[in-house]
This record gives sequence, C-alpha cells and structure tokens, in this order.
Amino acid sequence: MRLVEAAHQRLSKHLREGDCAIDATIGNGGDTCLLARIVGTTGMVYGFDVQTAAILATREALQTMGLGAQVRLFERCHSEMTNLVETSVRAAVFNLGYLPKGDHSVTTKTESTLGGLNAACSLLAPGGVLSVIVYPGHPTGKVEAKAVINWVQALDRRVWTYEHHRPEARLKVPPEWLWVERRK
Ligand SMILES: C[S@@+](CC[C@H](N)C(=O)[O-])C[C@H]1O[C@@H](n2cnc3c(N)ncnc32)[C@H](O)[C@@H]1O
Repeated sequence: MRLVEAAHQRLSKHLREGDCAIDATIGNGGDTCLLARIVGTTGMVYGFDVQTAAILATREALQTMGLGAQVRLFERCHSEMTNLVETSVRAAVFNLGYLPKGDHSVTTKTESTLGGLNAACSLLAPGGVLSVIVYPGHPTGKVEAKAVINWVQALDRRVWTYEHHRPEARLKVPPEWLWVERRK
C-alpha cells in the first residue's frame, strides 16, 4: 500500500464527524477532500498552499464532490496557520515536496516546514495527530526529510509519541511517513 493510502486509512479511523483538521499542503486536494468527507458539515478543514493553482484545483475538487461548505482555503504558507486558525484541531496533515504534475520549483522547504510543524503542534488538541510524509528522493527533500525526522525525534516524549514508517523499499530512496500523537 502506498504511504498516502496508509495515512488516509489511519486518519479515517482517528477523525470523527464534527472534528476540525488542517491540510497544510493542499496540492490537488486529495487529502483535503478526504478530511472534508470525514468531518462532514458539522466539522471544519483549514487548507493551506502557496500556489494559486493548488487553491483553484482543490476548490474545484471540493465543489465537484459537494464538500465545499466545511473547508476554508488559504493561499498562505503553513507557517502562518496560527494567525488564521482560531480553534484546536484533531489532525494536521503535511504531504511535503512538490506537486508531481505541477511546478517542481515550488516545493516545501525546511525552514517554513519546521515553522508549519511547530504551528500545527500548538493547535493540536490532546489526542490529536500530525501525519507527515517526506520525500528524500530529491535534493531539497533530502535535507528537509532529515530536518523533519530530527525535529520529530527531539519532541518531548512526555507530551508526544511517534511512529516512523518506511515501507516502500522497492524505490531507491523511498518516501517516509511520520505519525505523531499528542498524548491525552
Ligand atoms: C506533494 S504536494 C501536496 C499534495 C496534496 N496533499 C494532494 O493531496 O494533492 C505539496 C504541496 O505543498 C505546497 N507548498 C509548498 N510550500 C508550501 C508552504 N510553505 N505552505 C503551504 N504549502 C506549501 C506546494 O505548492 C504543493 O502543492
């Protein structure tokens, strides 16, 4: 199973109708649509991306599926999320890197990613989760993945637990998935 699918399965078990969640890298909206479907119209999803194309593609996907009412999209860096999200959330999803069929020069970068992760942590309710997929197979992604893994490993274990998955070993440099939970 691809990591994205594994993350979706886990998020589907973790989140409930009425929850609030963040998609920190909306891209074409695959993760946003999943989150919106789970939380329903009584919940809310806050989505972030720095590309206009991502906002437009995600808005269209949401409208097609009738999920627009429970989503707010921001064309802003995820490191700014604490200025825009005024509630605690049960999940924050980061699918790092660039859009495979988009502009490869627009990729997540270590400094803003760590800013986004710290911001998401400050918004996570007790029992809330961070799902982060990193892509060390390209040069910027390699540096970023190392920094993200170091960041996760340095979290205070009294507050946070984490799992580190690397299942796609058939690829030379496989993506990796970090699942971080705030203790209840
Ligand atoms: C791998 S794609 C995300 C895929 C997406 N979740 C989906 O389901 O299609 C990574 C996205 O992160 C976005 N991005 C890059 N830097 C960002 C930042 N600082 N804040 C928010 N999004 C950013 C890119 O524009 C790109 O759309």
